[in-house]
Amino acid sequence: MLAFRIREKARLVSIFQDGMNTMRKMAIAEIKPGMKLAKTIYRNDDGRILLSAKSEIKESHIQRLLDYNYEFAVVYDNDIEFEEETVLKPIKEETRSKAVALLKQSVKHIKTDGFLECEDLVPVIQEIIEYILADPLIVYNMVAIRNHDSYTFSHSVNVCVIASLIGSVMGFDRNELQILGIGAMLHDIGKVRIELKILNKKDPLETYEFDLMKAHPLEGYEILRQSVHMSYLPAHVALQHHEREDGSGYPKRLKGTEIHLFAKIVAVADVFDAMTSERVYKAAAPAYIAYQEIADKAGIQFYRPVVEALTKVITPYPKGSMWLLSNGDKVIVTNVTRLDCLAIVVTDSTQSKVYNLYKPAGIRVIQKMN
Ligand SMILES: [Fe+2]
Repeated sequence: MLAFRIREKARLVSIFQDGMNTMRKMAIAEIKPGMKLAKTIYRNDDGRILLSAKSEIKESHIQRLLDYNYEFAVVYDNDIEFEEETVLKPIKEETRSKAVALLKQSVKHIKTDGFLECEDLVPVIQEIIEYILADPLIVYNMVAIRNHDSYTFSHSVNVCVIASLIGSVMGFDRNELQILGIGAMLHDIGKVRIELKILNKKDPLETYEFDLMKAHPLEGYEILRQSVHMSYLPAHVALQHHEREDGSGYPKRLKGTEIHLFAKIVAVADVFDAMTSERVYKAAAPAYIAYQEIADKAGIQFYRPVVEALTKVITPYPKGSMWLLSNGDKVIVTNVTRLDCLAIVVTDSTQSKVYNLYKPAGIRVIQKMN
């Protein structure tokens, strides 16, 4: 049995398919005489059959269902036209590679000339943003294998793409997205002033090394403030991207509204990409693990509206994937859009239960099954 959800008269209703038949769960008040019942309804006082499956519903049946306080019934409905399934599209690898190459050039200028040459970088950020704005179905795709040497560059581009996607979902305009994109791309630029042996260290950092590492937001702020023709906001993104809602971040232990929204977005994008990246000292976490860890800290470390926007652009539960839920149900994802991730129960074929994995209401996704 397959389950779908269609938008009908501006509201969402649950639709099920069983062989050639389409069934619809409907409010009793909306059921009309002549419709055919798809599932038997039992009396809630003594368990006897109230109405049998396949019986044609009459006016008196509707009244009887209302008398027994039933709110819904499942009826056959083969007249439904399904919406074309929305296909989410990943960012083109070509755009990502171009951005990485241009970022490398800009950083070279900082190392040799002491200043940032970001004139070349702006067009590629604009390209990413135009690409995102042109299609509301663009989502983030992870790159499975990365080159360790270029981690900082590919990480910066990924954070730029994720942050811009989050910004587009949050309704930012082109100008705002461009400034956010620059801030996201250059959020770690201060690391050019950190020694490579600390940046690439496999073992845990010593306290003094961690203190040196924690200087990169301020170093980045100073580099970006010196760059002419640039809004002050990217510099603030660099300065605040390790700050956290509850004041547990660094360097200034800012809280809530003291942190700029752009920095809150880059913080989430930064953590998501860092967790899902393979490094010399750790394996890459699957997207759903990274997503769950971030979602668990929504409202504590991360700004909740940003986490909600992240859900819509990273597709942690892809179509066709199977999951074990905390209540023991095994489900398969049948439909993913930016708003919903519908999964049907596969453990019990008599059930037509559908979960929205983006809003699982107290139930947790525990483990991937395939
Ligand atoms: Fe950073």
